[in-house]
Amino acid sequence: MKIFVTGGAGFIGSCFIRMILAPGQKHSVVNYDKLTYAGNLANLEPVARHAGYRFVKGDICDAHAAEAAMSGCDAVVHFAAESHVDRSIYEPAAAIQTNVTGTFMLLQTAKKLGLAKFVHVSTDEVYGDMAPGQFATEETHVHPSSPYSASKASSDLLVYSYVRTYGFPGVITRASNNYGPYQFPEKFMPLLISNLMEDKPLPIYGDGKQERDWLHVEDHCRGILAVLERGRIGEVYNIGGADIVENITMAKALLRAMGKPETLLTYVKDRPGHDRRYALDCKKIETELGWKPQIPLEQGLHQTIDWYKTNTAWIAGVRGGDYLSYYNKYYGNRDTSLDALAQPEAN
Ligand code: NAD
Ligand code: DAU
Repeated sequence: MKIFVTGGAGFIGSCFIRMILAPGQKHSVVNYDKLTYAGNLANLEPVARHAGYRFVKGDICDAHAAEAAMSGCDAVVHFAAESHVDRSIYEPAAAIQTNVTGTFMLLQTAKKLGLAKFVHVSTDEVYGDMAPGQFATEETHVHPSSPYSASKASSDLLVYSYVRTYGFPGVITRASNNYGPYQFPEKFMPLLISNLMEDKPLPIYGDGKQERDWLHVEDHCRGILAVLERGRIGEVYNIGGADIVENITMAKALLRAMGKPETLLTYVKDRPGHDRRYALDCKKIETELGWKPQIPLEQGLHQTIDWYKTNTAWIAGVRGGDYLSYYNKYYGNRDTSLDALAQPEAN
């Protein structure tokens, strides 16, 4: 199968491409990516010269460029997104443009070209907060809290409407918090690991008792591949790690694993609208497609820490330019930076 992958230079998309171009796999790939601050071709270095790999720089909102690149492909796996909740709070326009309008443009193009399958990679954040003991099934109503999760829920609904109205071959996956190598260090896990490597404080939002379900990125990509190959059209599949941990517990586990003192824990102002708990019921993908997470959290944490420790040049490469100005603007003074939210966006 020739797969059109959007956002393949990002954290999860690049893992998916490395996985499907591994020896023994039978697929080829067109990686279509705008290369925003989060897109990094260094993530594709292991497969860059593979005969089945082609990179096209482009924006999913550009219908002509996307159509030219997608032509001749059999299926789409759609990762491209503005994926960071904090950024979507500070600067929501980019999330709406890429996640909603971009997905719409891509659906139009895939429909026009008559592709056989369209896997839309979405998130557990569309379900919003889960009460203690509650788990979201694929039937749970969407109830997003942030501009990011609202934009993802909107794109999910667009995909669903194309299935229903046009008989479009769309499938939706909703995964929990991914971690692993090559994750951009604005996200919790790589931010903490890279800060600890420099003995810098760990910013913990609010009381740190928010819960996230951690899923190794390779387990997520195995789930997406199963959905691409065998998932039923028109369905949603939850993909979770079954490792629900409070942020403060995760931070302490990283401190222990890296031999650093708890004095580095620093409580800062909470994220506005912060979801308290995510939890997924994943029986559907387990029973229908035989998928289960294979990488235990403790093993995945050690592997991830080792990867960041041995890839300091990669960290230095992604931390310049846009990242630095973003970090200084919003995170420079953690206790007061969220006051910037009181200022409406300029566009
Ligand atoms: P990421 O931010 O690391 O990568 C996003 C990629 O999309 C980048 O390569 C970027 O250049 C590209 N991109 C952004 N806007 C684009 C545009 N307009 N046109 C073309 N390319 C564009 O994101 P990620 O963490 O790898 O997430 C990938 C997908 O998985 C997203 O759709 C996200 O919502 C979803 N997801 C992420 C997680 C997680 O924990 N990271 C969990 C569940 C679902
Ligand atoms: O649940 C899936 C989602 O997971 C994906 O859809 C998103 O693309 C992905 O970014 C992630 O969203 P989160 O908001 O959960 O991830 P983040 O890494 O930003 O934060 C994880 C938790 O850690 C969250 O409760 C906020 C908290 N946090 C985050 C940062 C950056 C802190 O306490 N301090 C921080 O500095």
